[in-house]
Amino acid sequence: MEEVRRILQAKLEDYLEEDGKRTFYLNDSKTWYLMHEQAEFYLKLHEDQRYACGMLAKEMNLIKQNLQEIVGEGFSRKTIYLDLGPGKAEKSKLLIEEALRQNKSVSYLAIDVNKMFLDIALAEISSLGVPAIGLEGDFEEQIARLCTSAPKFVYLGATMGNFKPHSILQTLHKSLSKEDRVYLSIEPQTSSIESLVDHYRTQEHDDMFTPVLEAVGFDGDYLEAGVRFNPKTSNIESFLTVRKKSTLKEFEKIKPGDKIVVGISFKPTHNQFRNLVSHYFLGDFYENEGKNFISFVGERK
Ligand SMILES: C[S@@+](CC[C@H](N)C(=O)[O-])C[C@H]1O[C@@H](n2cnc3c(N)ncnc32)[C@H](O)[C@@H]1O
Repeated sequence: MEEVRRILQAKLEDYLEEDGKRTFYLNDSKTWYLMHEQAEFYLKLHEDQRYACGMLAKEMNLIKQNLQEIVGEGFSRKTIYLDLGPGKAEKSKLLIEEALRQNKSVSYLAIDVNKMFLDIALAEISSLGVPAIGLEGDFEEQIARLCTSAPKFVYLGATMGNFKPHSILQTLHKSLSKEDRVYLSIEPQTSSIESLVDHYRTQEHDDMFTPVLEAVGFDGDYLEAGVRFNPKTSNIESFLTVRKKSTLKEFEKIKPGDKIVVGISFKPTHNQFRNLVSHYFLGDFYENEGKNFISFVGERK
């Protein structure tokens, strides 16, 4: 709770004003997973058909369809697989299995804010006979301090979409050496953005976000809870409109009627994603059959 407060207090200056009402951007992906009950909700999300058959299946299929090329391009003879926020590590497991099939030597290092995900990921990856260790903490902070003895394959994947795109790509760019490879992915905007927005209207999402706002003094009594697409940033925004002031002095500047965006998910067009990534990295893009998921593997420019 204390940590969530500290993180979000630092974001209080991040707001937009329109017609006297403000939208505060209190979205930091760490705060969605810090508490145990939130992590449980994330695991439950995997049982939700819209998620399981949506983003998860699209990326799993893309990886399976391009497994040899992704591993061929991304892994050297000896690679440190750096998993930034592994969650259940099911996609990482696919890639590492293929690397072993290609007789590459791999060791695994995961960084996650939530220890439960680290435990799940380490169990999955060590079951392949790969040495695996975990670091509990914020990967944005930890990655800059890492000093490794072999080239890294850095998996950020679609978690990229929960950050300001330039900011997370700059962090990666600064932390990678020329021999490292990065894996990024995104669910791009399709002609029917509304159907993508719909995927974010699940109870589990609300269950992940409500504890965040409770931690900063909003008691769950909101005027409105919703999901919208912001065409200026190409983000799907999960927001709540507050009815009452926060019980915490530090958050009193948020007034009744103001909106708080708690979660974002970046949905660029194919071209926006290609241009953005190509600004920092050089490499190959992969798309799945339906062209509704796109990945990138490459090196820093
Ligand atoms: C959406 S899940 C993605 C899981 C997996 N990488 C995948 O692509 O399916 C996000 C994961 O990143 C972790 N996470 C999010 N922000 C983080 C941060 N800033 N530092 C460390 N872990 C973070 C969460 O705890 C969770 O395990």
